[in-house]
Amino acid sequence: MTATIERGAATAPVTAPKKAPTRKKPGGFLRSSNGKKVVMAVTGAVMVLFLLGHMLGNLKIFLGRDSFNEYAHALRTLLEPIAPYRTLLTIVEIVLVASVVLHMWAAISLSRRAGKARPVKYVAKKSQANGYATHIMRWGGLTIALFVVWHLLDLTFGVVNPKGFDAAPADRMVAGFEPSRWWVTLIYFVAVVMVGLHLRHGIWSSFQTLGWANRDRNKVLRATAGLVSIVLVVGFLAPPLAITFGVVK
Ligand code: HEM
Repeated sequence: MTATIERGAATAPVTAPKKAPTRKKPGGFLRSSNGKKVVMAVTGAVMVLFLLGHMLGNLKIFLGRDSFNEYAHALRTLLEPIAPYRTLLTIVEIVLVASVVLHMWAAISLSRRAGKARPVKYVAKKSQANGYATHIMRWGGLTIALFVVWHLLDLTFGVVNPKGFDAAPADRMVAGFEPSRWWVTLIYFVAVVMVGLHLRHGIWSSFQTLGWANRDRNKVLRATAGLVSIVLVVGFLAPPLAITFGVVK
């Protein structure tokens, strides 16, 4: 006699696992890619505003050394006597340092995230434009950071400036870019062009992050990013070039 063995179903019924209730982690927005892009856009805008003000202030050298010194003095005494000496400048410095740190933190973590999302490299290289933008932002950003260190040692602290710390700001500036120091002007030239390229792409990216870009507006927005960058590059380069070529003495 043969016995029949009852077998169960070949596949067990699958019950969908219960979803744990999603609880938003604190700081969740800042952890998201969108949040980091917003951080980059906002801190970038703060730095662009600083650069516009800084560039306009530098142009005062064309009105004479006294005019430039008065402006540098005003930066330190603007809120006196209500607030102590250098209050406004200290606030600007704190906001700038915070902006630089947050901007770099968001940039590094976004680029790490992009790297993790694609552990296997593309066989074919990404489009030329994309590769160019990544390089110019990464290496350009690093060059700008190194330049700012040199720049502070030069014109703020006078460590690498022929006139040193005790000289008047205009004397430091004119001595720093005198004709024999053409190589300093060259360093500034390269750095400022890097700033321009960085800003052109950065401003355009921030327009996209803020959701302003669309087919109708893209041309205008790209042109705006280009124009702001060109104005800053020309405005920043004018004083060092004018001093090196003997127009401002
Ligand atoms: C290329 C032309 C530039 C010239 C002639 C110039 C000139 C100066 C001068 C004279 C100061 C000292 C101001 C003072 O102590 O009263 C200064 C400070 C500074 N500059 Fe520039 N600058 C230039 C470009 C730039 C660029 C492109 C950046 C940033 C990417 C920059 C960032 C700064 C910062 C962060 C300070 C310190 C501000 C502070 O102490 O609060 N500068 N610059």
